[in-house]
Amino acid sequence: MKQRADFAGLDVNDALAPLRDQFFLEEGLIYLDGNSLGAMPRITPNRVREVVEHEWGQGLIRSWNTAGWIELSACVGDKIARLIGARPGEVVAVDSTSVNLFKVLAAAIQIAQRRDLQRTHIISEASNFPTDLYIAQGLAQLLQGQIEVHAVERADVLASVSRKTAVLMLTHVNYRTGAMWDMAAVTAAAQAQGALVVWDLAHSAGAVEVDLHAANADFAIGCGYKYLNGGPGAPAFVWMHPRHSAQAQQPLAGWLGHAAPFAFSPDYTPAAGIARFVCGTPPVISLAALECGVDSVLSAQSAGGIAAIRKKSTALTQAFIDQIESRCASFGLELVSPRQAHLRGSQVCFSHSNAFPIMQALIARGVVGDFRAPNILRFGFTPLYTRFVDVFDAVEVLCEILSTQSWQQARFQKRQAVT
Ligand SMILES: Cc1ncc(COP(=O)(O)O)c(C=O)c1O
Repeated sequence: MKQRADFAGLDVNDALAPLRDQFFLEEGLIYLDGNSLGAMPRITPNRVREVVEHEWGQGLIRSWNTAGWIELSACVGDKIARLIGARPGEVVAVDSTSVNLFKVLAAAIQIAQRRDLQRTHIISEASNFPTDLYIAQGLAQLLQGQIEVHAVERADVLASVSRKTAVLMLTHVNYRTGAMWDMAAVTAAAQAQGALVVWDLAHSAGAVEVDLHAANADFAIGCGYKYLNGGPGAPAFVWMHPRHSAQAQQPLAGWLGHAAPFAFSPDYTPAAGIARFVCGTPPVISLAALECGVDSVLSAQSAGGIAAIRKKSTALTQAFIDQIESRCASFGLELVSPRQAHLRGSQVCFSHSNAFPIMQALIARGVVGDFRAPNILRFGFTPLYTRFVDVFDAVEVLCEILSTQSWQQARFQKRQAVT
């Protein structure tokens, strides 16, 4: 059986290990929830203070020009583009993932229907993150029955794409299981049926290798507050393939997505390219914090970039699975994530009939993951700040909680609003 020293040895040889110092992480805390809310880069408070005190406090309205606020969505978008296989000028950081999904779905449906009015289906996975399904359902309702949403079992997704499909809408890495689609293969299969493909990269950007151009995807959206470390409620991002630039129309046609916002024309003319997906005034303070988070990921460039992050991520998740299965297997934990590393994102999930109180007991002991209904213990691994010894220590605590059944204490049964 592996010892703690074996894990410490892996940390010594890890080229990404020094990057942990970029983050504020409380001593003794093992944070395995960066897939939900990334840790705070140490530079973020100073940058936010500078934006508030200097750029806003002193610069006031002038800062839209002098501090580059008006370009910030595009600048941060360019940085995110480097992490997802997009090109400069193709990504903007705006709105939330849910709102961006609404915009791209509407645009994709219109493009599909301009080609063929018989294309009335949005196909997705029933176990997709609920907001994705709700947004599709909301859009279908708005379009008064012209569109049907079919959320099917994962195994049936590709077989469900047909000549009636307008859009295949999938999340690259599943939020509850960590299962990862082969983006290029799935995109090609759906496009062969004439469908457009929209990818949600919420659990991918900053954690796994994504190459939107190589996959020939149509649209993509994703979160800023998970592996991009942008802070709670950070702006999300949106990308479209440039082949759609001229024709894509999005319904939230706000003034800052206009070709000439300061012409104040009463009629809407969309800006060129992805800029038309901007709607209203961007949240400058949040964008500044997001930029710090994205920079923290880009800082891995000299140590191998996303490829090195992915390599460490698979090593961490594999070590976690192996440790749990060799040490706590008899306590009713069942692996829900794919066993094969290339099919798994940067998280590991186990089911257990008492998953909720077990996670509360873990959190009380300083091992922070999260619970996803009905019975999932979810652990995220952010290679920029998660160490191999964290894997060993987290499993040690989990085994103890399971063997002593300390999770049975009444204080661990109480559910709060956020799980
Ligand atoms: C796959 C996926 N999409 C979308 C969202 C939600 O995005 P937002 O609440 O930022 O709109 C989440 C949140 O966890 C998610 O996991």
